[in-house]
Amino acid sequence: YKAVRLIAVSNRTAIDPNARAGGLSVALWDTLKASNGLWIGWSGKIKDFSSQKATLASDDGVDFALCDMSKSQYEGFYLNYANSVLWPLLHNRLDLVNFETHDIGPYRDTNVQFANAVAAHANLDDFVWVHDYHFFLLAHELRAQGWTGQVGFFLHIPFPSPDVFRALPEASELARAICDYDIVGLQSTKDVTNLKQFLSEDCGAQYIGEEDVMVFGRRVTIRHCPIGIDTLSFKAATKSEPAKAASRKLRKFSGDRKLIIGVDRMDYSKGLPQRFESVSKLFDNYPETHGATSFIQIAPPSRSIVDEYIQLREELDGLCGRINGDYGDLDWMPIRYLARPYRREEIAGLYNLADVCLVTPLKDGMNLVAKEFVAAQNPDDPGVLILSQFAGAAEQMTEALIVNPYDTEAVAKTIFRALHMPLDERKFRWAALNDGVTQLDINWWRERFFAPYGANASTQSSQE
Ligand code: G6P
Repeated sequence: YKAVRLIAVSNRTAIDPNARAGGLSVALWDTLKASNGLWIGWSGKIKDFSSQKATLASDDGVDFALCDMSKSQYEGFYLNYANSVLWPLLHNRLDLVNFETHDIGPYRDTNVQFANAVAAHANLDDFVWVHDYHFFLLAHELRAQGWTGQVGFFLHIPFPSPDVFRALPEASELARAICDYDIVGLQSTKDVTNLKQFLSEDCGAQYIGEEDVMVFGRRVTIRHCPIGIDTLSFKAATKSEPAKAASRKLRKFSGDRKLIIGVDRMDYSKGLPQRFESVSKLFDNYPETHGATSFIQIAPPSRSIVDEYIQLREELDGLCGRINGDYGDLDWMPIRYLARPYRREEIAGLYNLADVCLVTPLKDGMNLVAKEFVAAQNPDDPGVLILSQFAGAAEQMTEALIVNPYDTEAVAKTIFRALHMPLDERKFRWAALNDGVTQLDINWWRERFFAPYGANASTQSSQE
């Protein structure tokens, strides 16, 4: 793919300093640089009238074409259809889908706007790589304009079972549009099975070989591509000054107590209330943890004007207050809950210090916190990862302690076990996890996505 120019499309781009630190940004940035590529996305600006023309910018060898949104587009596309319809639906939360006020119109319009930006700035021999649920319709809109170039799609979040997807009134329209991509990358084998099943049951798709389907007269590759992290750079981040400073600060607070850490965007898919309940049960069932163990939860608020996110914030504030009120003491705070973002280096330092990491989403495409925690451990004295069976990462990271996040009693028991795990077992589990995180990193993921279509997945590791 190096010879071909890459055009990446995603709602958030790395020109936004908050998004830049992530592994995806780093990986795309390098690839875009190597191919004189272009990144198309939202400018982050909400204008009175959105201009249909993208603004061009350039940063560190990468070109950007940034589209503004109007206020009604921000509400109708981003807040409503993308984040109050598709996000809950794809995370199996039909109870939270905004069926009453749902309207696909602004979503369609925004996909047209971004397709126009691609058509205006890309050439037919470029590879257009579209990211995430904001842009299911983009290839379809491009094809409607006669675009014959290659267009690929990677879904960062889960694809649900056919029955859940069918609940969306526009399920057929979206599925038809997905088939206008040449290749669709998904995080887990479950996601691949779900999409293939939907396409064969509802769209008459025929399987050809291991990865490809014939559907609507086109051949589409559906590939299992679990995303990784920039492992080497994350390991380096744990040695940085900000990492050391952050870990010193936390050590001052925690003293010689054991530390359990959680780091999540404040989202209902992350299972935070259930996690707080599990920690509460740990203190309830194991009084020896009192004064000896603290839980630190970092949860930067996200999409905070959407109702469900406002309610989640209130629920967590209440739970944390209750648990600290019930169990805390003059010299011990059981839960330290920080509803604000920290820098990537600081987080790396905190992971390095922690004894146990709780990654307990109710549903998650992959979950990179699990991978970053592993990358940040000291080989001589590694911490223990507790991982939800409902995170995409659980398919790969089988040496973690795998839990059902709804079973808060069992999670409490597992935390206790992790806190007392013998060094040998910790080392053994960590070494296996670290091998996976190192080999199947962000570069492996990108290369796997771009491996020739129809090729057998020869780079599969035994972990999958
Ligand atoms: C998830 C999605 C991304 C999204 C991010 C932050 O990771 O997969 O596409 O950018 O959440 O959410 P936000 O709504 O703030 O962009």
